[in-house]
Amino acid sequence: MSITDVHLIYFSPTHTSRHVGEAIVRGIGLEKVRVSDLTYSSIDFSEIGANTLTVVVLPVYAGHLPQLAVLRMAGLRAAGAPAVAVVVYGNRAYEKSLVELNAFLNGKGFGVIAAGTFVGEHSYSTVSCPIASGRPDKNDLEEATDFGRRIRQKVKNRVVTVASWVVDVSRIRRPYQPLLPLFCFIYEAARLRKRGRPMPATPCVDESLCTHCGRCVKTCPNNAIMKGDECHTISERCIRCCACVKGCPQKARCFDSPFAVLLSKYFKRQKQNRVIL
Ligand SMILES: Cc1cc2nc3c(=O)[nH]c(=O)nc-3n(C[C@H](O)[C@H](O)[C@H](O)COP(=O)(O)O)c2cc1C
Ligand code: SF4
Ligand code: SF4
Repeated sequence: MSITDVHLIYFSPTHTSRHVGEAIVRGIGLEKVRVSDLTYSSIDFSEIGANTLTVVVLPVYAGHLPQLAVLRMAGLRAAGAPAVAVVVYGNRAYEKSLVELNAFLNGKGFGVIAAGTFVGEHSYSTVSCPIASGRPDKNDLEEATDFGRRIRQKVKNRVVTVASWVVDVSRIRRPYQPLLPLFCFIYEAARLRKRGRPMPATPCVDESLCTHCGRCVKTCPNNAIMKGDECHTISERCIRCCACVKGCPQKARCFDSPFAVLLSKYFKRQKQNRVIL
């Protein structure tokens, strides 16, 4: 069966995964495109047919897939349809996340025919503490679009079952990581933990700057900020995605993590995007 449609699925509180996904879909170049944004709610999926190419793009949280995104994809199912698995990470490491996404999609009845690891600005990046700032940049998006073009070539005129064109995502090339800064990061992160300086549970809010515009209420993916009570964050609901921090027009919200300082210091060298297909 030939591919006629593309279905883009993403979870993207700070928009980098969305930009990468949209660039890939531009490269695939099919006219019929459906978009499922899982950032703010779950979607009722119907079974995806073999004529649809599903592109799933998720950010990396602590080396894994964000649990909220996985929960929101629970209803996803296909009967032998092709999928593209992509993770976007903040220039540190994507660890198990791509293998997890591959296993998840396989379990839902997809065959993963292409995969990618792309770099996006780290959620904790700030002006004074930049971590992969501005990525995906123009080059990254061109690479994503080119990846899409190559996927289109791969699926063009295929008539055999998807099982014969799946990829082994564990064989994707790892980006170059110099060892010295990595060891320094591990050492200093362990010292921070030992000294009892954990990550903040939620962003902090400068009440004197907040105008109660309500934007953070809308941008929060897990309803951790209530209308009328914008200076308070419900810690049990906060996934520390920093969407509210990056989206606040008054810069009233911040996420001052000591780990961000280390990430900025030891992961300066920009990693490359990698694909397999
Ligand atoms: C809670 C959390 C954990 C993260 N863990 C990692 C990580 O383990 N490795 C990494 O390189 N980036 C990590 N990041 C950075 C994000 O993967 C990166 O900023 C990504 O581009 C965010 O995607 P989005 O813009 O679609 O929300 C983490 C971000 C958050 C919020
Ligand atoms: S977006 Fe910023 S200014 Fe607006 S309500 Fe939220 S914290 Fe206040
Ligand atoms: S309150 Fe927490 S979950 Fe909501 S946008 Fe801010 S960091 Fe993300």
